[in-house]
Amino acid sequence: MATVYGAARQPAQVTEPGVTPVALDITDTERVSLLVNNAGMMKASTFIGAPSLDAARAELETNYFGTLRMCRAFAPVLAANGGGAVVNMFSITSFYTNPFNAFYGASKAAAWSLTNGIRLELHHEGTLVVAVHAGFIDTDMAALVDAPKMSRNQSPGRSSTPSRPGRSRYWRTNGPGPSRLRYLATTS
Ligand SMILES: NC(=O)c1ccc[n+]([C@@H]2O[C@H](COP(=O)([O-])OP(=O)(O)OC[C@H]3O[C@@H](n4cnc5c(N)ncnc54)[C@H](OP(=O)(O)O)[C@@H]3O)[C@@H](O)[C@H]2O)c1
Repeated sequence: MATVYGAARQPAQVTEPGVTPVALDITDTERVSLLVNNAGMMKASTFIGAPSLDAARAELETNYFGTLRMCRAFAPVLAANGGGAVVNMFSITSFYTNPFNAFYGASKAAAWSLTNGIRLELHHEGTLVVAVHAGFIDTDMAALVDAPKMSRNQSPGRSSTPSRPGRSRYWRTNGPGPSRLRYLATTS
């Protein structure tokens, strides 16, 4: 099972079950050896049906350029500390398109590509760069989705509603407009 770390200036504030507290003050760059890019945005908009490209630009700005900016800002810090790790939080939509959040998937695919490139660029500095491609997690982002979701307190790799590999199923979202359609999702 994966170990989940929760960083805070006062580690005693990290009380979530199953989370290992670590001390982190982001103004103290000498101690930074791990960067987790978790921030993300999902506007639930389609390539053709969206009224404008505003959602696409907003998602790229956060999911792609935001991740890139953080990697560029912290890569020298990690290198100065002898190397470290970058973990970028993406989605299964990095490698397949869900029509209801197509722009989002494209932004995650682009960010996945940059992750693979940065991995090669930072290898010689001793920094490991990896991506997490998650399924649905029960957070605000997935509030409209009516499908099995991982609890936000669950460790990766465990699901409260396990899907059967290779099995396809339909699921739907509860939002307005095109997102009310049902879409096919395949697990593998
Ligand atoms: N929930 C899912 O089903 C699911 C599935 C796969 C992957 N993911 C990924 O998991 C990560 C976490 O998402 P979540 O499920 O926790 O979604 P969430 O509940 O919508 O939370 C998104 C988080 O990202 C932060 N954020 C957004 N834009 C930001 C910015 N410009 N600068 C700093 N922080 C920003 C938000 O901060 P504010 O509160 O300040 O806005 C919020 O804390 C995302 O990268 C998401 O794409 C989620």
